[in-house]
Amino acid sequence: MSTMEELNRDIGACQRCDLARHRARVVPGEGPADSVVLFIGEAPGFHEDQQGRPFVGPAGQFLNQLLILAGLRREQVFICNVIKCRPPENRDPLPTEIQACRPWLDRQIELIEPKVVVTLGRYSMARYFPGAAMSKVHGKHIKRDGIVYFAMYHPAAALHQQSLRKAMEQDALTLKQVLSQLEPASAGPGEPESRQLSMF
Ligand code: URA
Repeated sequence: MSTMEELNRDIGACQRCDLARHRARVVPGEGPADSVVLFIGEAPGFHEDQQGRPFVGPAGQFLNQLLILAGLRREQVFICNVIKCRPPENRDPLPTEIQACRPWLDRQIELIEPKVVVTLGRYSMARYFPGAAMSKVHGKHIKRDGIVYFAMYHPAAALHQQSLRKAMEQDALTLKQVLSQLEPASAGPGEPESRQLSMF
């Protein structure tokens, strides 16, 4: 299996779909390669495309606040997107683009082996909660093969809607609870210290 650096290099050279022609920078994602918690958003926006980093614009500012509510430090989690290049004008990702990018996300998950996957928005939700409605599943989690999948709205959706903002803040507090219940199991024998969730 490749290392995260090798994987990032491969993602950086990707030409699998047309988005490669429009991007300023690829946005593979960032965080420790052995993060316990993985957040998956939708696609890079303007600021992410400029900087090559995920969630660094206004939605990212709100995500940072949600992480604090969830008792997490941004440096301890891995944050990435379903697709790694910005769609023109921030349009929704096309099914063909999601398909083309899927092997990158698959390899990231294989490498990180997260204990908790938090989906941000409907595109990552669709991967783990197929056919579900966001209004029904947000703030809820399922456990499959020892991994917890927790659904949240997309932070950008909440930026201009006070009710969604409140819902996301509440969901972040629920996530904190879920994480605290999982803590002893995540720090199982043989797990390195970096794999143990230290809440603050
Ligand atoms: N929205 C996303 O889904 N991802 C980002 O990285 C930024 C905004």
